[in-house]
Amino acid sequence: MYTDLVMDHFSNPRNVGTIADADGVGLEGNPVCGDLMKIFIKVKEDRIDDIKFQTFGCGAAIATSSMVTEMVKGKTLDEAMTITNRKVAEALGGLPSQKMHCSNLAADALHKAIEDYRTKTAAVAG
Ligand code: FES
Repeated sequence: MYTDLVMDHFSNPRNVGTIADADGVGLEGNPVCGDLMKIFIKVKEDRIDDIKFQTFGCGAAIATSSMVTEMVKGKTLDEAMTITNRKVAEALGGLPSQKMHCSNLAADALHKAIEDYRTKTAAVAG
């Protein structure tokens, strides 16, 4: 049902945790199941320098979040904004169709973290 890559990211998730002095934080809830996802980013020269996630989601949510953090580390913010839940699922070799909604959490929380960073820096720039 799950690919080896999904099982690997589920059993050994990358970049789990929080960043105390994060530049951007994104919180997303899944309307289908009520689960939550929080993504923290550090930004350097318009690139994602560090990223961590915390989730109260299922195994598929853990695997997709872990994968998304690996996909966007070092990427520009514009590149990271183009990551969709479908791209994350493809990078994992696919997800069962009934679990596709779980992959929305990671991509949407990432986008919110970037928007949070952009709002804060725009406010500072005045
Ligand atoms: Fe809620 Fe997967 S069932 S995120």
